[in-house]
Amino acid sequence: MTQRRTRVIQWATGSVGREALKAILMDPHLELVGLRVHSAEKEGLDAGELCGMPETGVRATTDTDAILALEADCVAYMPRIASLDEVCALLRSGKNVACTPFLFFGEALPTEERDALAEACRAGGSSVHGTGIHPGFVGMVLPLAMTGMSRTIEHIRIQERADWTFYDSPRITFDNMRFGHPPEEATLEANAFARFNASIFEEQIHMLGVALGAELDDVRVEQELRVAESGYDVRAGRVEPDTVSGQRYLWQGLREGRPLIEIEALWTLGGPYPDEWAKPRDGWTVSIEGDPSLRTHFMPLASFERSDATIEEHVHASDIATAMQAVNSIRPLCEAPPGIRGTHQLAPAFAGIGFRR
Ligand SMILES: NC(=O)c1ccc[n+]([C@@H]2O[C@H](COP(=O)([O-])OP(=O)(O)OC[C@H]3O[C@@H](n4cnc5c(N)ncnc54)[C@H](OP(=O)(O)O)[C@@H]3O)[C@@H](O)[C@H]2O)c1
Repeated sequence: MTQRRTRVIQWATGSVGREALKAILMDPHLELVGLRVHSAEKEGLDAGELCGMPETGVRATTDTDAILALEADCVAYMPRIASLDEVCALLRSGKNVACTPFLFFGEALPTEERDALAEACRAGGSSVHGTGIHPGFVGMVLPLAMTGMSRTIEHIRIQERADWTFYDSPRITFDNMRFGHPPEEATLEANAFARFNASIFEEQIHMLGVALGAELDDVRVEQELRVAESGYDVRAGRVEPDTVSGQRYLWQGLREGRPLIEIEALWTLGGPYPDEWAKPRDGWTVSIEGDPSLRTHFMPLASFERSDATIEEHVHASDIATAMQAVNSIRPLCEAPPGIRGTHQLAPAFAGIGFRR
């Protein structure tokens, strides 16, 4: 007996979307039935051509109505700028949505947005889940999996240490995150993107709090900006003196004033690493203080064995990991009951393709 393959629409073909598209074409459990692109020059191109795979017969379209009209089980939604209205329309049309830009724990959204999302899920009998590497795997899947060995938990701390020098998107680094800008333009008050970014990390704390019974009464964020002492060039542009070269964020989930869950982001763009900052290893470190205490360091790379892997390939490994966490969540999401789904409410995402022949 053959089981029907899960029908998937890929939405966007950027650094992450292209990798997801390739994986959907390779995964024997999945069938590509549609492809939404943004740029006019991709209109009508074959999906295979957009990700270096053989021709598929599925053509890219910029037409949202054509996508909504398709019969599909799930949309892998990966645009640079996400829209809640778009996601709600997809959900209302009966398609589940696995996405990487936002909705990591939709229950924590402001009431109006959460209600709109829940109503769309009800109307379409569909469900929605956001994931990726971080937010996603590191801040939700990994700590939850680690707590499978916990009797009691005192404190969870997730640290991300990254130099953005090789990050592939100058628009996100300079325009959105405002590295290389005067510090007054990069504060949470001044920068709407930074506030959005802060909110998606906070969602992870809410999810862990709910899943692990933390009964948090406050989730908050603090931001610290560092400026360059002298000017220097990085791959994607130039950092002038007195412009932002480092950003540290600390998100805390508190109960009665005590931080139970913390996420610390230690982000620099070239230049010296600030002396006073914590110095975890590059990548991600998840520490759980409790009975027993547990720690994991996580780092995706292009290869641990190949010596010719370039720094660009290593950096791109995170895009692949992000794409795959979402693609591998498609089948658990399609099997989940309709509604806004947090990581703790889905079966784990396993590799759909797995070992290659
Ligand atoms: N959770 C995580 O760990 C994680 C990690 C990395 C990225 N992300 C998120 O995943 C998404 C995709 O990341 P990426 O690195 O692939 O981004 P990207 O390469 O900068 O862009 C993705 C695609 O967005 C589309 N696009 C261009 N202009 C747009 C607009 N005005 N509105 C909507 N879409 C537009 C383009 O689609 P076409 O190419 O189809 O024209 C582009 O290729 C982003 O939202 C990013 O923040 C999440």
